[in-house]
Amino acid sequence: MNAEDKTSRLGAVYQAASPQDVARVYDAWAEKYDEDMSLAGYRHPAISLAILARHVPKGAAPLLDAGAGTGLIGEWLAITGFRHVEALDISSGMLAVAGRKGVYTALRQAALGTRLPFADNCFAAIISAGVFTSGHVGVEGLDDLFRICAPGGVIVLTVKDVLWQSGFSARIAELEAAGVCALIDDTGPYVSMPGEEGTTPSRCIALKVH
Ligand SMILES: C[S@@+](CC[C@H](N)C(=O)[O-])C[C@H]1O[C@@H](n2cnc3c(N)ncnc32)[C@H](O)[C@@H]1O
Repeated sequence: MNAEDKTSRLGAVYQAASPQDVARVYDAWAEKYDEDMSLAGYRHPAISLAILARHVPKGAAPLLDAGAGTGLIGEWLAITGFRHVEALDISSGMLAVAGRKGVYTALRQAALGTRLPFADNCFAAIISAGVFTSGHVGVEGLDDLFRICAPGGVIVLTVKDVLWQSGFSARIAELEAAGVCALIDDTGPYVSMPGEEGTTPSRCIALKVH
């Protein structure tokens, strides 16, 4: 894929009208995604993994990679000592690539923003990179993560700054005031794809679940 194709694919995702549209774009992109993101200098997996490792002990289990895509984070979680990690994604094509890497204990096709197919309090930690962003998942995807993360667990998310400013940070302040969680880490704004012209800033946060 040339640079123009990649940019138009990213543009199509950002402007997708429905979760089904998002899934279709990623299904078609799945086989080239890792190569394209590598060329774009994609930093969310490394940064979110660093934040997770700061707050979650080695070997904590099970973990959920929410919006796991092709499993870039799963590969690094396996290397760094987290061996029981489940993957959830809306795109069957992305999950098929993730499955081939052999780093997840389970793969689930489901949509953040709906009730997720997991029991209450079942994960020790949740990580989600590049998902809470324009045209993907908004603040509506947050609440069910608190149902499935165990008390004392940690949720690490990257959030596009435009979402953060338009409701996400306010929702987290509400959840903190209600005693649901505490914001324990926040990188502040950084650019997730320095090799991609016009990428707007995101941040990575960690939430401790009460
Ligand atoms: C930019 S990719 C990030 C993938 C992976 N986390 C990474 O960092 O490489 C965004 C992923 O979110 C998934 N996605 C988008 N909307 C979703 C939703 N509502 N529920 C679950 N996954 C979703 C896409 O299918 C895609 O795999």
